[in-house]
Amino acid sequence: MAFPHPILSFLILSSTLLTLSQTTLSATDTHKFSIKEATTSEIQNQFKHNKLTSKQLVKFYLDEIHKLNSIVNGIIEVNPDALYQAHKADKERQAELRGSLSRLHGIPILLKDNISTKDKLNTTAGSFALLGSIVPQDAGVVKKLRKAGAIILGKTNLNEWAGFRSLNAPNGWSARGSQGKRQCFSLGTLQNPYVLSADPCGSSSGSAISVAANMVSVSLGTETDGSILCPSSSNSVVGIKPTVGLTSRSGVIPISPRQDTIGPICRTVTDAVYVLDAIVGFDPKDAKATRKASKFIPHGGAILVDNLNISNVDIILNSTVSGEALALVTEFKLYINAYLEELVTSPVRSLADIIAFNDKVSDLEMIDEFGQEIFLISETTNGFGDVEKQVLKNLKKLSEDGLVKLMKENKLDALVTPGADIAPVLAIGGFPGINVPAGYDTKGVPFGINFGGLKGSEPKLIEIAYSFEQATKIRKPPSFKPYDYKLTI
Ligand SMILES: *[C@@H]1O[C@H](CO)[C@@H](O)[C@H](O)[C@H]1NC(C)=O
Ligand SMILES: *[C@@H]1O[C@H](CO)[C@@H](O)[C@H](O)[C@H]1NC(C)=O
Ligand SMILES: *[C@@H]1O[C@H](CO)[C@@H](O)[C@H](O)[C@H]1NC(C)=O
Ligand SMILES: *[C@@H]1O[C@H](CO)[C@@H](O)[C@H](O)[C@H]1NC(C)=O
Repeated sequence: MAFPHPILSFLILSSTLLTLSQTTLSATDTHKFSIKEATTSEIQNQFKHNKLTSKQLVKFYLDEIHKLNSIVNGIIEVNPDALYQAHKADKERQAELRGSLSRLHGIPILLKDNISTKDKLNTTAGSFALLGSIVPQDAGVVKKLRKAGAIILGKTNLNEWAGFRSLNAPNGWSARGSQGKRQCFSLGTLQNPYVLSADPCGSSSGSAISVAANMVSVSLGTETDGSILCPSSSNSVVGIKPTVGLTSRSGVIPISPRQDTIGPICRTVTDAVYVLDAIVGFDPKDAKATRKASKFIPHGGAILVDNLNISNVDIILNSTVSGEALALVTEFKLYINAYLEELVTSPVRSLADIIAFNDKVSDLEMIDEFGQEIFLISETTNGFGDVEKQVLKNLKKLSEDGLVKLMKENKLDALVTPGADIAPVLAIGGFPGINVPAGYDTKGVPFGINFGGLKGSEPKLIEIAYSFEQATKIRKPPSFKPYDYKLTI
């Protein structure tokens, strides 16, 4: 196991959170339960008292998807086996002794469409080029979710190829997800559920939108540079971008194993921690390790250190200058080709095939006018020569001289920044970050706050994010404010 230390620390933190949320639960028990905005703990409580079944829960979400998805387009595919999985979960719950099932047992989850599932669902990164491809097996994180008893409800829409195809395509646009529409900012394509014309950000937009709009309990997204943190910020949900390597990337359509990471997008910090625990392989019954790791939880109040500067931040924030862009296009070709080769069957087997496919599709005048300039640049790369190796060294140095030095010299636990602007700083170092809803602007468009830190600092970040969430309780469900033409014209 590459990261035993942070995993151990999770155990503690989440059992702390469990206690906290159970305390709140008894207080809210008198309220009438509503699936909308329900946390997984509240849902489990309903299960436990035979007031709700997984089947009812899945039916509720299928109805909501039916009603809302034509407006927000967060979901590309619904799992035809979801009700069957729910039925199975209900049977298992009846047969089990109370409390012996995982926290995600019987809970529906949506997955970003670049996370492989070996079932009836397609895995396409939003592209028609991969429609009909057959993956060799479930992604590592999906195996863990199934083991935990979660119900795979479907796949969520995303920036096609996680935005790595072209800079001209708007956030949330994918050929498959746009259902033939050319523009993101028009009804029928992926929309911010708070203000339909507002930027949903990308690339895990569908996951963020779907939990925000209560079309599912919890979801997974992925991030190479900002793809969890930014849509979480823009759609008023909690996203955790884990330290690179904490969650398995196997079976996830890659851009760069140096930066790619899989993480939860949920409505609350506690739910995000539960999902994270399940995908990092957490065993809730490991009481001994839990006790042992308790020393990692910080005590006492926070000291705020203001007005700090990350050295060379201007360079880091410009991916052309930092070299991040060159590293990513070089890595993408290598790893997407490896992914495509492993597929059981696939219409495309290499980046060159995808490019040819997109050219052909454009010729047929299908939903495709954004070009593919990043693909074309990536195709011209040729692995890691001297220049590329130097770029990687430089990125490492920028991280060491930048965030690492700042955090160590000032003895910081977390770096607090508005929105998701900090994403590249975290991305190039493989560092974790958590976004929590922080408010809404005058037009009602959400924004978040980000807590970032060094590798393995998730336990501290989670504690801080949880405190912020509980102190502010600012999140509210979306109202689907109609498209405001004044905003764009
Ligand atoms: C997967 O794609 C195929 C088309 O290749 C389609 O027929 C099928 O319905 C899709 N699966 C789901 C679950 O939507
Ligand atoms: C999908 O997954 C990776 C995580 O491994 C993510 O960082 C990336 O943005 C996504 N890639 C594509 C091509 O969709
Ligand atoms: C950070 O940069 C700003 C603007 O360049 C400057 O005013 C401030 O004094 C710097 N802070 C520190 C701690 O160096
Ligand atoms: C990044 O730097 C390049 C080269 O200096 C410049 O041309 C480009 O406009 C910069 N990009 C952004 C987003 O500032």
